[in-house]
Amino acid sequence: MNKNNKILVTGCAGFIGFHLVNKLCSQGYTVIGIDNINDYYDVDLKKSRLNELNPHVKSGQFIFYKEDIVNLEKIEKLFKIDGINYVIHLAAQAGVRYSLENPHAYIQSNVVGFMNILECCRHNKINNLIYASSSSVYGGNKKIPFSEDDRVDSPISIYAATKKSNELMAYTYSHLYNINTIGLRFFTVYGPWGRPDMSPHIFTASILNNEKIKLFNNGEHTRSFTYIDDIIESIYRLIDSDELQLKKYLLLNIGGGDSIQLMDYIKLIEKSLSKQAKYDFLPRCYAEMEKTSASTNQLFDLTGYAPKIKIKEGIPRFVKWYLEYYNMY
Ligand SMILES: NC(=O)c1ccc[n+]([C@@H]2O[C@H](COP(=O)([O-])OP(=O)(O)OC[C@H]3O[C@@H](n4cnc5c(N)ncnc54)[C@H](O)[C@@H]3O)[C@@H](O)[C@H]2O)c1
Repeated sequence: MNKNNKILVTGCAGFIGFHLVNKLCSQGYTVIGIDNINDYYDVDLKKSRLNELNPHVKSGQFIFYKEDIVNLEKIEKLFKIDGINYVIHLAAQAGVRYSLENPHAYIQSNVVGFMNILECCRHNKINNLIYASSSSVYGGNKKIPFSEDDRVDSPISIYAATKKSNELMAYTYSHLYNINTIGLRFFTVYGPWGRPDMSPHIFTASILNNEKIKLFNNGEHTRSFTYIDDIIESIYRLIDSDELQLKKYLLLNIGGGDSIQLMDYIKLIEKSLSKQAKYDFLPRCYAEMEKTSASTNQLFDLTGYAPKIKIKEGIPRFVKWYLEYYNMY
C-alpha cells in the first residue's frame, strides 16, 4: 500500500488499536484515529495508551479524534479527510459476559456503528476495509481446530451474534459496492497494555491482591491465546500486501497455535509472580465457549505468517508489563 495515503483506525485507544497505530506510524504510515474513550473499562488505561502515541502525534503521523461511531454525522466528516484509502475498524463493545448484562450497548456500537462505517466507506469510495470479527462466531462448534470454512450459524452470546452480523453485512457491501473486506476472527488476545476485563489481567490482579480467582466451569475451558505482537504482525502484512487489495470478501482466523486449559495458564501466571492463586469454583457460564482452537492455514497461505509466540513466553511478558504499569515492582 502507498504510504502517502492515510489509514483510518477506529478503536485506536483500545488494546489492539493502540498497538496497531504504533506499528503503522513507526513504519511510515499516517493514521487518523477514532475512539469514544468509553468507560466500559478503566478510562485512564485508554488515555495512557494514547499518551504513548504522543511521539507520532508530534511527528504528524497520528491524528486523534474523540468521536462515537454511532454518531453518523460526526463520522461522515472524518471520512472526508483527504487521502484516506484504507479503514481498519476495531471499535466495538467487546466482552462476552457483559453482553448478558447490557446487550443494547452491543447492538449500538457493533451493529449500528458498523453500518455507519460501511456507509462511510461506500460514499467515500474507500475500497479496503479490515474489521474485527471474533473467534466467538464459532459458538458451540465441536470440530477442532476451527476453520474459516466451518458453518457458523449458532452464536451463543449477543456479542458473537453482532460479530457474525458484521460478517454478513460486510459480505453485502463487498457484493454491492465492490468494497474489499477482510473480517479478522481474533482468538483471545493478550499482552502488554491488555484489557482489564480479560482473564490474564483479572487473574494477575486476584493473585496479587490475595483474592480468590472466580473460575467458571472448574477451569476446564480451553483457549487458543494469541500474543498481541502476532496479531499486529498479521494485520500489518495484510495491509502491506498489494495482492490482497484484489480480494473482495475474506474471513481469516488469527489465533495462537497452542490451546491451553485455563488451569494450566493460571500456573504460568503464578510462576511469573512467584505466588500461588486461590480459587472460587463456579458453574459454567453458557454464553462462553468451552474450547477455542484456531486453524491459521489460510492466514499463512496469504501472508506467509502465522502466530508463533508461545504462551510460555507471552505470559511473563504480560506480567512484567502489568507490574511496571501498576508500579508493583
Ligand atoms: N482482545 C480480544 O481478545 C479480542 C478477541 C476477539 C475480537 N476482538 C475484537 O477486536 C476489536 C478490538 O478489541 P480490543 O481488545 O482492542 O478491545 P478494546 O475494548 O480495548 O478496544 C475497543 C475500543 O473501541 C472503542 N469504542 C467502543 N465503542 C465505540 C464507539 N461506539 N465509538 C468509538 N469508539 C468505540 C473503545 O473505547 C475502545 O477503546 C474489537 O472489535 C473486539 O470485539 C478482540
